[in-house]
Amino acid sequence: MKRKPIFPEFPHMLHGGDYNPDQWQHDPHVLEEDMRLFKLAGCNEMSLGIFAWAALEPREGEFDFTFMDRAMDDIYKAGGRVILATPSAARPIWLAKKYPEVLRCNDHFERNLFGRRHNHCYTSPIYREKVAIINRKLAERYKDHPALLGWHVSNEYNGRCWCPLCQEAFREYLKNKYQTLDALNRAWWSAFWSHTYTDWSQIDPPSPRGEMAVHGLTLEWKRFCSHQTVDFLKSEIAVLKEVCPDKPVTTNLMAFHDDIDYHELSRVLDFVSYDIYPPWRGADKHDIPLAKTIALYYDHHRSMLHQPFILMECTPSTQNWRPFNKLKAPGFHMLASMQAVAHGSDSVLYFQFRKSRGSSEKFHGAVIDHEGSENTRVFREVKELGERLKGLDALVGTYTKSEVALVYDWSNRWMLEASEGFQNRDKKLHDTVLSFYGALWDRGINTDIIGYDDDFSRYKLLIAPMLYSMSEEVGKKFEKFVAEGGHLLATYTTAMVNETDLCYLGGLPGAGLRRVFGIWNEEIDTLYPDETCPVRFADGEKAEAVDYCEHIHSEGAEVLAYYDDHFYAGTPAATRNSYGKGEATYIAFRDTGSAGERLLEEQLNRAGVRRLWDTPLPYGVTVHSRYDEDTEYLFLQNFSYGENTVETAMDLSDLETGEKLTGKIRLAPMETRICVLKH
Ligand code: GLA
Ligand code: ZN
Repeated sequence: MKRKPIFPEFPHMLHGGDYNPDQWQHDPHVLEEDMRLFKLAGCNEMSLGIFAWAALEPREGEFDFTFMDRAMDDIYKAGGRVILATPSAARPIWLAKKYPEVLRCNDHFERNLFGRRHNHCYTSPIYREKVAIINRKLAERYKDHPALLGWHVSNEYNGRCWCPLCQEAFREYLKNKYQTLDALNRAWWSAFWSHTYTDWSQIDPPSPRGEMAVHGLTLEWKRFCSHQTVDFLKSEIAVLKEVCPDKPVTTNLMAFHDDIDYHELSRVLDFVSYDIYPPWRGADKHDIPLAKTIALYYDHHRSMLHQPFILMECTPSTQNWRPFNKLKAPGFHMLASMQAVAHGSDSVLYFQFRKSRGSSEKFHGAVIDHEGSENTRVFREVKELGERLKGLDALVGTYTKSEVALVYDWSNRWMLEASEGFQNRDKKLHDTVLSFYGALWDRGINTDIIGYDDDFSRYKLLIAPMLYSMSEEVGKKFEKFVAEGGHLLATYTTAMVNETDLCYLGGLPGAGLRRVFGIWNEEIDTLYPDETCPVRFADGEKAEAVDYCEHIHSEGAEVLAYYDDHFYAGTPAATRNSYGKGEATYIAFRDTGSAGERLLEEQLNRAGVRRLWDTPLPYGVTVHSRYDEDTEYLFLQNFSYGENTVETAMDLSDLETGEKLTGKIRLAPMETRICVLKH
């Protein structure tokens, strides 16, 4: 497959970021300096107008594009391009004061006052109308501007609204979905505690003042709010596409944000973009585990549309909103940026280009400091990266091939977190996902993070961490995958409830998977935080269970490990079952790492998954790759603050220096090398 750049007319690594000249209109010297420093820093992109609604429409129906006209022209003259924002993430005061319905209500059903960002209702017809007007004006004005690359719709959509309009829309959504109250009552098991609904108007969204115990209701409310956000996004996109159909659209996402089902959302985008602010600490013991988490997030964004993504925001130095805001150690900006590129980003963009002088983000890192010149450490590091990115055009649009995928589903997460049972403090879904992902990172294996609606057949191994909720239909998809030769590795709490949170009857795992795993999961024991349970593998190797120990019976599966204590001593703790042409492994206990890793390693080997590097990698070193036709680019990255050496028998060359690489390769602290491999 040939690489496919997101912006074919500008096939370069983008470097730049959020630019807010509307804050500096009183000082033309600053605007001139911005352009000088933009070029000097090796930048080629600005994300413009993200929070500029009050400048663009100072009074209702009165528009002023002076600052934006100038910025578009200046950036283009400086050799740059623009990803232009719609300003819906922060509304002007006049709008909120005149039309209070645009403001959100909180979960106590009280109307908020004007303030902050994203404090608006996604249902309000007035808000939608006002956003459509300003979006249309922007699209009409700039559709043919040579600087325009694409659209940055709103900014980090998030939050939920409990206003009367949203409540009514929620009831409509439920009517469409369930058709009859009988069906809804059954799906929500509302006979419990006498919560049976006899009229649609009786359904209120969950609230600490009211209903929090009907899990089906909680689940549908979260689905509805997510759906309503996507619907709002679609209404923004519709106007842009009507006026300039050829420009790609995105909205910037935030990892595994709880409010929105990003799998659903991504389906309406032309490309995915991502904002990330990792709390790097400048010490191996923190930063190597953190690098794995960040890699997981990148892979997740790349996997949504199975194409490169845009790193829309990161900080060149520090954040300002964490409890402790540390600087990035020298050299770490390069490493962290190359990590994004390694995992599929075609950009490194910042929040923000010039540091604001006042208000809440005045101490947030930026390319240009309050000092104002190029003579800062941060500017020098940004410039150094800019120089390097200019040499990476060959990578733009290259894609990633993965033989392994982790399956993640938002409704599953919402249901698991809302469920009351086993351990209630933290179900440990995120930790479970990370423990498998981290082991793949250590081994240098490309991994996709996919949803239930993705194509399973493109993978050799699927990892199913804590997929507590799945429909019969999804269960059949897993069954087919295994029957046709796929390898499935699942954990404790698999398929306990269906898609409306009703428990499966007839023995777990449900959704038809009991046969696939060849086990019956009878009970789940929860351990106290200070409690462990020894586990023994068939070959005598020992491990330790924490948090969960399911009490399972083999119904044909091979037993790989047994519990060694408690009343379930001697019963199976992990199993493997041949099913059709494939295999399904079940891990019935959580562990501190080693047992899950061993079982994963075995399954990787049995599935014949390729390690990208041909020898084991030292701790803190990883490899990820991108492809273009017969060329593979292997990103060899040393996340350690110490030197490391790797060995290879492959015939590689360094993309940037042309140097031949084989045998022993030395990696300086924090070094990234991009190795070219011809297939
Ligand atoms: C988010 C927002 C930006 C800015 C940064 C600060 O990502 O999109 O506008 O507030 O956080 O880190
Ligand atoms: Zn609302």
